[in-house]
Amino acid sequence: MKYDIKDIKFAPKGNKRILWAEKEMPVLRQIKENFLKEKPFKGKRISACLHVTTETANLAIMLQAGGADIYLCASNPLSTQDDVAASLVKNYNIPVFAVKGEDNKTYYEHINAVLDIKPQITMDDGADLVTTILLKRKDLIKDIIGGTEETTTGVVRLRAMAKDKVLAYPVIAINDALTKHFFDNRYGTGQSTIDGIIRATNVLLAGKVVVTAGYGWCGRGFAMRAKGLGAHVIVTEVDHLKAIEAAMDGFEVMPMKEAAKKGNIFVTLTGNLNVIYGNCFPLMKNGAIICNSGHFNNEIDLKTLKKISKSVKNVRDFVDEYTLKNNKTIFVLGEGRLINLAAAEGHPASVMDMSFANQALSVQYLVKNYKNLEKNVYVVPEVLDNEIARLKLNSMGIKIDNLTREQKEYLNSWKSGT
Ligand code: ADE
Repeated sequence: MKYDIKDIKFAPKGNKRILWAEKEMPVLRQIKENFLKEKPFKGKRISACLHVTTETANLAIMLQAGGADIYLCASNPLSTQDDVAASLVKNYNIPVFAVKGEDNKTYYEHINAVLDIKPQITMDDGADLVTTILLKRKDLIKDIIGGTEETTTGVVRLRAMAKDKVLAYPVIAINDALTKHFFDNRYGTGQSTIDGIIRATNVLLAGKVVVTAGYGWCGRGFAMRAKGLGAHVIVTEVDHLKAIEAAMDGFEVMPMKEAAKKGNIFVTLTGNLNVIYGNCFPLMKNGAIICNSGHFNNEIDLKTLKKISKSVKNVRDFVDEYTLKNNKTIFVLGEGRLINLAAAEGHPASVMDMSFANQALSVQYLVKNYKNLEKNVYVVPEVLDNEIARLKLNSMGIKIDNLTREQKEYLNSWKSGT
């Protein structure tokens, strides 16, 4: 079996952690039981480009349980958990091509390695797999029945492909499922971003001014949790509606250039580039900490920061100290890559349980329905989203009321008013 990982000797630790995560993934466990019986993916080759974490391991193992031949590479050069990669290879016979800290060239070699199996299904987190296929490996398209996409940034790229009429097969936007973004983007990113900042710096958030760039689902989650830890939170936005929402949620809202002067800690969660731009850095307080929790490492203009700095040195794992020509220091965490996966372990298993249940059921849906789908971006069918919500709530031991017949009729009628 071909693979490329850091060290196979890490496997025992990885396996313990994979099993630990599984305890918090009851929805995935239930779906896996069905997959074991029904083998819906028998003979199907799946190329997956996802963050190589304990949670992803559980997804890969369940797809394999359903009969799939799955090959996995990383969806970010800095997010791989090397012990998990080792365990997948050694304990589960799943080929993995991912090494934490790999350079861009290796990152794309790994993408190409998982594509060499000529997949029928692709699973992406950020759309690098689909993009590589469209730009460099068009020969693979004829075998592909469909794909899935995990994250907001990837869905934005796919919609741009569909608009340009270059998307070559149907892709399901996992991110847009309610049981994904309500929980993963908000509570997952909220907690794991804080976790990444704290693991990298051990800084106290209470009393700090924390600038949150972006007030989408991820920004909302992060701002809420930072406030809960005693930070004073400032939000920057480009969208009027989201800015009103942030203000009404009790946060100060202002442009980045003003926030730059006030913040102690800056976090970008926008999906856009150069959100903290060149002119902002000299305005920042001495010792400001900046990091990113969006998918790509382009939200902070590090090129300009480097240009206006007289020195850069690593002062701690995942912390680089930039000394500006004006003698101020700025600390950049995780090279501007997503801090929750670079310095911490990503979202907790309990939320990934729902995100990856959407992945698993969507792959099954593709296998059953691909002949009726166009070369377009699809939402996760509502019945699957609802079923995942039902299973999750059940697993949490929470019961809710049911609509009575009278209430159902009332909701379907329009005649009774005041
Ligand atoms: N994205 C964010 N957190 C993640 C995790 N724990 N596993 C896989 N993908 C993730």
